Amino acid sequence: MLGEESAGVLEGGKGLVAEGVAEAVGGAGAKARELVGAEVADGVGRPAGALHRPVVVDDGDLVRGELEVELEEARPGLDRPAEGGEGVLGEAGAESAVGDDGGSVQDPTVAGGGISQKGLVLGRLCALAGTWSSLNREQTPKRHPLMAQYRIAWMPGDGIGNDVMEAAKLVLDEMDFDAEYIQADIGWEFWCNEGEAFPERTIELLENVDAALFGAITSKPNQEAQAELAPELKSKNLTYQSPIVRLRQHFNLATNLRPCKAYPGNPLNFREDIDLVVYRENTEDLYVGVEYHPVPESLSEELSKHPKWERFIERSSLEDIAISLRINTREGCRNIVKAAFEHAKTFGYPTVTVVEKPNVVRETSGLMVRTAREVAAEYPGIDLWETNIDAMCMWLVKNPQNYGILVSTNMFGDIISDLCAQLVGGLGFASSGNIGEKLGVFEPTHGSAPKYAGQYKTNPMAMLLTAKLMLDWLGEKEEADRLEAAVAKTILEGKVRTYDVGGTDSTLEVAAEIARNL
Ligand code: NAI
Ligand code: MG
Repeated sequence: MLGEESAGVLEGGKGLVAEGVAEAVGGAGAKARELVGAEVADGVGRPAGALHRPVVVDDGDLVRGELEVELEEARPGLDRPAEGGEGVLGEAGAESAVGDDGGSVQDPTVAGGGISQKGLVLGRLCALAGTWSSLNREQTPKRHPLMAQYRIAWMPGDGIGNDVMEAAKLVLDEMDFDAEYIQADIGWEFWCNEGEAFPERTIELLENVDAALFGAITSKPNQEAQAELAPELKSKNLTYQSPIVRLRQHFNLATNLRPCKAYPGNPLNFREDIDLVVYRENTEDLYVGVEYHPVPESLSEELSKHPKWERFIERSSLEDIAISLRINTREGCRNIVKAAFEHAKTFGYPTVTVVEKPNVVRETSGLMVRTAREVAAEYPGIDLWETNIDAMCMWLVKNPQNYGILVSTNMFGDIISDLCAQLVGGLGFASSGNIGEKLGVFEPTHGSAPKYAGQYKTNPMAMLLTAKLMLDWLGEKEEADRLEAAVAKTILEGKVRTYDVGGTDSTLEVAAEIARNL
């Protein structure tokens, strides 16, 4: 029977599910999705009714059964067009696909998200600030009149981190933002010369600032890291760790916020109506760094209690097996989902989409999805959509306009945020904040792009939109809006553009234009 919680994402193992969806792709399933779209648009921007709340079901038979039932029950509405949804759904017949693991996927947004969110997206285009700003942080008390209002750690890091931070300084200096910027050491050079990419002195500094702006760091695999260590450090058995990952973990910057908005006039926009915000858990998951190679004997003994371990030790020696643990906690999952829902609530997003893989990675992704359902129950007006990471990559390319807030664990969140970045112009436009209870560290999503280092070629927009996030978080909403408006104007006018947008202007020329547009 089609229950309240049906339709939306169909997940599952191989075989029957794939068959069920293949059937759907070719025929009736398309109609079902058309119907779902028709049923949910209530004209005021919120999905209405029961059909559209997605649910992950991993029993192939059940999926197929539900799909058929859905078709039957849904049929009466088939002729009714989706209100306000002309052209949004595209060819309904293409709205379903079979994942590469044989599992089936269905775009939950055909349940009306694109239609219902359309108006909201436009309304929000220039108004993104964060609940993360108002909720997570107390205002900095006014300091002594001779002191700057804010202490900001200034961490250019490596490669183009330096170029874009210089651009940020140029713009921030033009603003009414009363800050003292304190240079902080972080990055590859400190690994090579000191054996520590994130020195203790930087940790101490970060304990005494209001926020930090960060460019990017270079990380290299172990062997290269060892090779580039200063000769006197080579014998010290040092292990390279990504400083930004350590920074996030050390300061428990558990929320990674990554807005991806299509600013009007950006020729690289995949579509003009994209306004996505990715909430990525930032301190757990596959990035915790609990890794083994070779696998210690004691660990192998413990793992031998698990029936699936045998297959590996039969085939390989422990020297030839590598293990990286994916560790997630209920608290970590809850925090990030809660942050996502709070954002949705404040800015009127009708849905939050949790992006995982619970049908295969059952324990960790399962915990995330179950926790997301619990949190969702606390937000009656906002729907939780559930979709798989692989399918999500496809849907984001197909129907990005249908999504609003995406929430995921660390690695999947990392992956989708780069994809989302490309939808709105690429890494040159993607900003990000690492937010904890006491500290916010703001960095563009991009890395150090070594091949462009020091050439002042790369786009500073991502860095400036990042500075905007920092201003928001500090509670400087007016200045944040002013900076965003200047960036938006510069994009819209298109007089000055870096190479990635088809121009020949330098990082600093673009920054100077943004400063003029303040
Ligand atoms: P990347 O983000 O540094 O660069 C990939 C490509 O994206 C560049 O080659 C360039 O074509 C483009 N790009 C990046 N930023 C741009 C900008 N502002 N304007 C125009 N185009 C831009 O990623 P990649 O090449 O995978 O990594 C390079 C290094 O950066 C690695 O050592 C990696 O570990 C590190 N990294 C650091 C991050 C951080 O500091 N949080 C994040 C990602 C990578
Ligand atoms: Mg990344």
